Amino acid sequence: MKLILLGAPGAGKGTQADILCKELNIPTISTGNILRAAIKNGTPVGMQAEAYMKAGKLVPDEIIIDIIHDRVAEADCAEGYILDGVPRTIAQAEALEKAGIVFDDVISIEISDETIMERMTGRRVCEHCGTSYHLVAVPPKTPGVCDKCGGKLVQRHDDEPETVKHRLEVYHKETEPLKDFYAKRGLLKSVENQPTVAATSQAILHALGR
Ligand code: AP5
Repeated sequence: MKLILLGAPGAGKGTQADILCKELNIPTISTGNILRAAIKNGTPVGMQAEAYMKAGKLVPDEIIIDIIHDRVAEADCAEGYILDGVPRTIAQAEALEKAGIVFDDVISIEISDETIMERMTGRRVCEHCGTSYHLVAVPPKTPGVCDKCGGKLVQRHDDEPETVKHRLEVYHKETEPLKDFYAKRGLLKSVENQPTVAATSQAILHALGR
C-alpha cells in the first residue's frame, strides 16, 4: 500500500504516520526527519537544507525529489510506504507521477490554523529518533525522555510562533493545492483532526476502509 499524509505543519502527520506504519506494517518516509538527520550529520544535503528549514521555507524541489527517489528504492519499501510531509508542491507530486509511483490513498488531516498555533508551543521531539510528543496531549512516560529510544526531548527551532506562522502561509500557498491535484485523481480523503490522537487514528483507518 502506498499512502500520502497531507496536512498543515503540526496537523499530526508524524504522530499518525507512526501509528499507521505499525497498523499497516509498512515504513514511514518523513522528509522532515530525513532532513533533520542530514543537518545533524553535517551532510551536503543537510548543509543546503538548514537555512531554509530554520526560516520555515520549503527546501528546493530538486533536493527533495532526489531524497525520495533514493529512499523508495530501498528494500523495506517493496511492499509500500507512508509519505509524511511529501509531496509538498505540485512539482514534487508530478515528479512522483513521472517516476511511475501509483498511490492507493491520500489522506488530508484538516485542522484550523488557530489550533496549530496553540499546539506547537507544547510540542517536544526526540532529538535522536524524531518522535513527537506534546506536554499535555501526548506526554512521555518520563518527562524529557523519549519512550521509544531514551533520547532527549527538545523543542524544534522552527516551532517558534513567528516561524510557525510563516510555515502555515507556505502550506496554504504551496501545499494546499495538492488537495485539488489528488481530488481530481479520485484519491483524496479528508479527515477532521480529533481532540485525541487515538480518535484521529480511528477516523483515518475508517477513511481507509479498515
Ligand atoms: P516537517 O518535519 O515535515 O514538518 P511539518 O510538515 O511542518 O510538520 P510537523 O512535523 O511540524 O508536524 P506534524 O504534522 O508531523 O505534526 P505532529 O505529529 O508532530 O518539515 C519541516 C521542514 O522541513 C519544512 O518546513 C521544510 O523546510 C522542510 N521540508 C520537509 N519536507 C519537505 C518537502 N517535501 N519539501 C520541501 N521542504 C520540506 O503533531 C504536532 C503536535 O501535536 C505534537 O506535539 C503532537 O503530539 C500533537 N498532536 C498530534 N495529534 C494530536 C491530537 N489529535 N490531539 C492533540 N495533540 C495532538
